[in-house]
Amino acid sequence: MPINIGPSPDITFTNPLGWLRGCHDRIKHFLSLLMTVATRRRGEALHREDRETLAAALRYFREAAPMHTEDEEQSLFPRLRASKSPSAVAARAVLDALEAEHHHVHQTHAEVEILAERWMREGVLPSFEAKRLIGLLQQLQDFYEKHMAIEDREAFSVASVVLTEKEMIAVGREMAIRRGIDPDLAIAYPMDSPAR
Ligand SMILES: [Fe+2]
Ligand SMILES: [Fe+2]
Repeated sequence: MPINIGPSPDITFTNPLGWLRGCHDRIKHFLSLLMTVATRRRGEALHREDRETLAAALRYFREAAPMHTEDEEQSLFPRLRASKSPSAVAARAVLDALEAEHHHVHQTHAEVEILAERWMREGVLPSFEAKRLIGLLQQLQDFYEKHMAIEDREAFSVASVVLTEKEMIAVGREMAIRRGIDPDLAIAYPMDSPAR
């Protein structure tokens, strides 16, 4: 079960945009693990390694991914909305759309979790549910590809230009606190755990 993804161990909460981009890599990584198991086994009996992969990916989406959404909705987007800079003002409608997408995708994740949990609990999944699971995962992969590209281009990139250093530090501190980390020690916490 690989847990180190790309160069993220170098990123700490002192680089909140780097951390947020690292979360995107993790979301893609864990989705692709779910898809690999779903398409390889297609509802048939799971091997031990498959179960471990499913459990780790479901745990990521249940525990860590929601903190990423909170980072965006509670720490980054409000500061962008408050900015009077023309590029931030122009991005306000996009931020609203991104938040609405967070809400919608939640339903898809909930259905994936129900099906995958049933698969692990009952050992096999009927073929119509196995197909449904693959379809949902494909929807999620397609969704995140677009959603993250827009965030990267129209939220993170704009934030990197319009937010002050003080505001960036505040975003990073809130992200640390959200994960139960002392913000004064946040520089000591590299992005080396999928649980974050
Ligand atoms: Fe998002
Ligand atoms: Fe995001």
